[in-house]
Amino acid sequence: MSDPHQHPGADVAFEHEYDGIQEYDNRLPNWWLITLYGAVVFSLFYWLYYHSYSIGTPQEQSWRNEMAAQAAAELAKLGDEVTDESLLLMSQVPARVAAGREVWTQCVACHLENGSGSIGPNLTDDRWIHGGRPTQIWSTVMNGVPAKGMQAWKEVIGPARVRDVVAYVLAELKGKNRPGKAPEGELETPAPKQ
Ligand code: HEC
Repeated sequence: MSDPHQHPGADVAFEHEYDGIQEYDNRLPNWWLITLYGAVVFSLFYWLYYHSYSIGTPQEQSWRNEMAAQAAAELAKLGDEVTDESLLLMSQVPARVAAGREVWTQCVACHLENGSGSIGPNLTDDRWIHGGRPTQIWSTVMNGVPAKGMQAWKEVIGPARVRDVVAYVLAELKGKNRPGKAPEGELETPAPKQ
């Protein structure tokens, strides 16, 4: 056995031996080091590109964009028909939700900005006086509950903006469970089978 101190660079055996296996302190092969350092450098650029500076579109954002584009395309196919499906699709299209947010300013006096309710009920809990399915919410906003102080909004803003504000309610309020006015009404019931 050679003396490691006299042969720098030669394979050097560690002092220990385990189950008959001797470990050598070899220099790691170049191809291995290149993959290691390559991965380190790549991860640095990857991180800078996707997570630090807003140069690249973060994957989550591009995924959102894709979903929004797909929802808009499917919505276009459905035309003007109002169904649970079309309203849900609308709630996934940012342009519709943004338009609905504008309309929502007319509702905040009674439902509050964050939908947690004051004169009108909390729209973020899981209970609904008039039903929580998209078409039920739409129908309440369209026709109102005049006896209780909720107007028939189709007469005020027209059906297109009613659809937008319902998209906003579905996207930004429904199910968010914000503390506020105590829940009123019943849990949402599933749509009847067609
Ligand atoms: C003047 C007050 C007032 C305004 C403004 C108002 N609401 Fe209401 N809203 C109410 C009241 C009161 C009720 C509860 C009706 C009832 O008890 O049957 C209600 C109920 C609702 C419901 C049904 C909730 C449930 O539990 O079934 C929805 C959805 C709703 N409002 C959405 C809207 C939207 C969207 C707007 C704006 C376009 C709006 N409201 C504007 C007072 C208002």
